[in-house]
Amino acid sequence: MIQVRPNIAAMSPYSPPWSNMDRKGYLRLDLNENTQDPPAHVIAALKAHIDENRIQMYPEYGGFLSKLSQHVGVGEDHLIVTNGSDQAIEIILRAFLGPGEPMVMAQPGFPIFDQVAGTIPAKVCGVPYDQELSGFPYDEFVKAITPETALIVVINPDNPTGIAVPMSQIRQIADDHPNIPVLVDEAYFEYTRVTALDFLKSHPNLIITRTFSKAFAMAGLRLGHIIAHPDVISQFYKIRGPFDVNNCATAVATAQMDFPDVWNAYIQEVMTRSKPCLERFFQENRVRYHPGAAHFMLVQPEDRDGAVRYLKDHGILVRPMIAPLIRHMFRMNVGTFKQTERFIKVYKAFLAT
Ligand SMILES: Cc1ncc(COP(=O)(O)O)c(C=O)c1O
Repeated sequence: MIQVRPNIAAMSPYSPPWSNMDRKGYLRLDLNENTQDPPAHVIAALKAHIDENRIQMYPEYGGFLSKLSQHVGVGEDHLIVTNGSDQAIEIILRAFLGPGEPMVMAQPGFPIFDQVAGTIPAKVCGVPYDQELSGFPYDEFVKAITPETALIVVINPDNPTGIAVPMSQIRQIADDHPNIPVLVDEAYFEYTRVTALDFLKSHPNLIITRTFSKAFAMAGLRLGHIIAHPDVISQFYKIRGPFDVNNCATAVATAQMDFPDVWNAYIQEVMTRSKPCLERFFQENRVRYHPGAAHFMLVQPEDRDGAVRYLKDHGILVRPMIAPLIRHMFRMNVGTFKQTERFIKVYKAFLAT
């Protein structure tokens, strides 16, 4: 029988929960997606894209890059679009990590980092968050960085813990290690508005990843991007395929960037109405939770599996955690105020069981 390389054979595939289930009929609070139906301008853009006979053409990114460059506020030469920020992560890890070379990152973090590192196979130096999830473990993190470190990863805010990393600490890390690339994953930037972008000019070792999956409601279309110094970006073009990003994604993202009021209003509702309301509910009912900095939180019920099952039986999906530190918790993202009221009603009934 043919054999893959031993490091691949030793790995397990990344499979999200409910992956073989049609999630359509549920209130989906399990994958940090945008919970609203696509707005009219998105449907119109997709329809126009098809009507203009564009899906049979290979994509080209010139026009889109210029639009994205205005949106992000950097030159086009500072950007590369990717097939989701999953691919951004893969490109960056493949560019900087060789077999056995160490990558430092806090754990638990977004699992794609471990998966891609496993394929190289690079060494993951995981720095654990403390049991109370009290904050970014800065002292231990900087101690884990050595002259051999080939890549530093900071997820801000982290998924799944939601923990934010103080910008002064990110700056210090980039300052102290000018010859080590520092990847800052900003998948939830639109929810926090906190970014390391301001340091990019002074710190060319910074590499930022962002996505259209979350705030922009485009998880199914797969669009992310990397923001970095032009010399670094030009290296990434050698790794990404010429057509890896589909042109439906760039058409819809263009429309989304044209209508910032629509997705900003959703973010406002989620962060200033729904999330505080949910936190109040958890506090009043003595449910332990970790709010995090973005639009999702970790919840720690007495009977975690019972809670997840009850919610699912009542049409709501949340995500049971598997990382050892948070195995007794589920993660849920917050939706509209109406959806939050629905969640609260169901969770109240669960607490009464
Ligand atoms: C921290 C973080 N980075 C990256 C991603 C990947 O997002 P996508 O590939 O959909 O852009 C996610 C998705 O959940 C995430 O939470």
